[in-house]
Order: sequence, then C-alpha cells, then structure tokens
Amino acid sequence: MKKQKFGLLFILALLLVIVAACSDSGKTSEGDSSKGDSKSDEKFTLQAGHSLPEDHPYNITFLEMAENVKERTDGRVTIEVFANSEIGAERELTEGLTLGTVDLVVSSTAPVTNFVPELSVLDVPFIFKNRETAVGILEGEIGDELFRQMGEHGIIGLSWGENGYRHITNGKHPVNNPEDLKGLKIRTQENEIHIAAFKALGAQPTPMAWTEALTGLQQGVVDAQENPAIVADQFKLYESKQKYMTLTGHVYSVAMFMMSQKSYDKLPEDLRAIVLEEGQKAGAKQRDLIVEMEKESIQKLKDNGVEIIEDVDLVPFQEAVKPVYATIEYQELLNKIIDAQ
Ligand code: PAF
Repeated sequence: MKKQKFGLLFILALLLVIVAACSDSGKTSEGDSSKGDSKSDEKFTLQAGHSLPEDHPYNITFLEMAENVKERTDGRVTIEVFANSEIGAERELTEGLTLGTVDLVVSSTAPVTNFVPELSVLDVPFIFKNRETAVGILEGEIGDELFRQMGEHGIIGLSWGENGYRHITNGKHPVNNPEDLKGLKIRTQENEIHIAAFKALGAQPTPMAWTEALTGLQQGVVDAQENPAIVADQFKLYESKQKYMTLTGHVYSVAMFMMSQKSYDKLPEDLRAIVLEEGQKAGAKQRDLIVEMEKESIQKLKDNGVEIIEDVDLVPFQEAVKPVYATIEYQELLNKIIDAQ
C-alpha cells in the first residue's frame, strides 16, 4: 500500500515537472512574461514576413519598424524581417498569423479575404475614386470596423498601407479595351472578386500565389498578370514575357500591417505597447514610399522595352465589371464606401 502511494506521488511529481517545462517553451519569446511589465533581461524575437523584394517599401518600412522597436525596448524585442515569401506567400502568412506561427505580416488585402471575408469590399474594381478618398476611408470608421472584424479572427490590424494601383501586363498584344482581354489567360490573386471581375472582362483568370506566378508566366501557363508598376519593375516582368502594360488602375491595392493576436498576448504589456505604436506608424510611411517610387517604376519599365498603354478609356472596363458589384455579400459596407466618396 505504502509502495503504491509512493508510486502515485512519483507519477504526480513527474507530471508537474513536464507541465511546467511545456509552459516554458514559447516560440516567440526567450522569456515568457505575458502579464505586467517585463523584467529587463527578458528578450523576445518576432518574425515578420512579406512577399516582396528587399528594396520594396514593405521591407524598408518593416526594417525601420524593427530598428525603432529595438531602440525603444533597449534591445528586448528583435524583429527579424523575411522578404520574398521566404517564410510563406501572403495566404500562408495570413494563416500563420491566425495560428501564431508568424508574428507580423504586411500583405495586400486580396488573400486575407479568405480569412476575413468582410475585407473583400476593398478589392472591388474601381471602388475608390482616388488614393485620397481611399486613405480617408481606411483611416476612418470603415477602416476601424474592418480591423475590428480582423480581430475576431485572431489578427490585429496595425495600420493601412498600399502597393499602388494594379495594372494589366501581358505578352500577347496591347490591351486597349475589354475586347482585347478575350481569352487571355491571366494570373490573378487568390480572391473571388478578382476572379469574377476578370471573367466579366472576358479573360480567363487563373488564381495562384505570387510564388508560382513568375514560373507560370515564363512557362506560358498564363499570358498575363495584374499588379502595380513597382511589382512589374522589381520582379523584372519583362524577362517573363510581359511586353505590354495597360494602366487600368482597376484596383487600388490596399495593404495591411498585421500582428498575430497570439504573438501579442505573449509579450509583456510595456513591450506590447511599443510594438503596437510602431506598427501603427508603419502604414503611412509605407504609403508615402510607394507614391514616391511608382513613377520611377513606370520609367524603368519603359527603359526595359515595356510598351505602356497610358491613355486608356476606363469606361468600358468599369461597365464590364459593374455586374460584379451585385454579387458582393457585404452590400451595406460596399454602399457605405461608395457614399463616403
Ligand atoms: O499579386 C500579388 O500576389 C500581390 O500583389 C503581391 C505581388 C504578392 C504583392 O502584395
């Protein structure tokens, strides 16, 4: 009996040791102090991911944020920045945020709608009158409401960025009107509205992650793609058969700086506040950089032999995608955006 009791006590003690050891093994932190202010020797490492090159404003802004956070936390928080989809393409990165396997992400909204469907209203073609009205809406009540929706999926919206206006490139012929898109195989983002819009325009949309798009263009799986000029320039799309770019500006490509709620919860309160504040500043800085670099990118594309179709009559494009508006699930939100401009 005595032996049995001793055996039980031993097993209980062993279980307690295992539980204590497991609760100490957080990925994000070398220390683990989720409540109150941290002890000065606790150090935390956050992984920040995105899909664009090192000289893209997504990366430049994340590096600046990392620097500021490091300085303000006296080196207690290190942000490691991974460019070029190194730790996942945008959809995977977003999933990582919900799971807490990625801490910080900047991504276009399109793939995030697969997790937060309300965001889909931002990807409706020609929904924003111009950049100024778009920023006003995102920085106002509507943007706040969308960030609240993201919160329900375990993602903290830190700030609104952008990647510029999306334009169509292709390797077949100049596109001047929707008829020229007929039958063109176009890579789109993994987003239902983008797919519906390009179907309505007569093209053959093929959704795929950006990590597959370049090979798709090079191997002729797709003839066309649509992205802002900075993407066409930095990924040298003219080396992937893209000879023509039509400045349709059909979507103002909204981006978001985001943090995983799970990662946030692992930080002590004083450090959380600093990461949050620096993340909130990132969007506006990033937007300014895009505006600065957009014209330069168009010039570089021209210098590399891309024919830019600048004088485009947008009305037939706008008319062709109009039926897509009625298919949007969040009509009230959509109309709010339209009425606010
Ligand atoms: O086309 C895309 O997937 C996106 O625009 C990109 C290039 C990953 C930037 O957010």
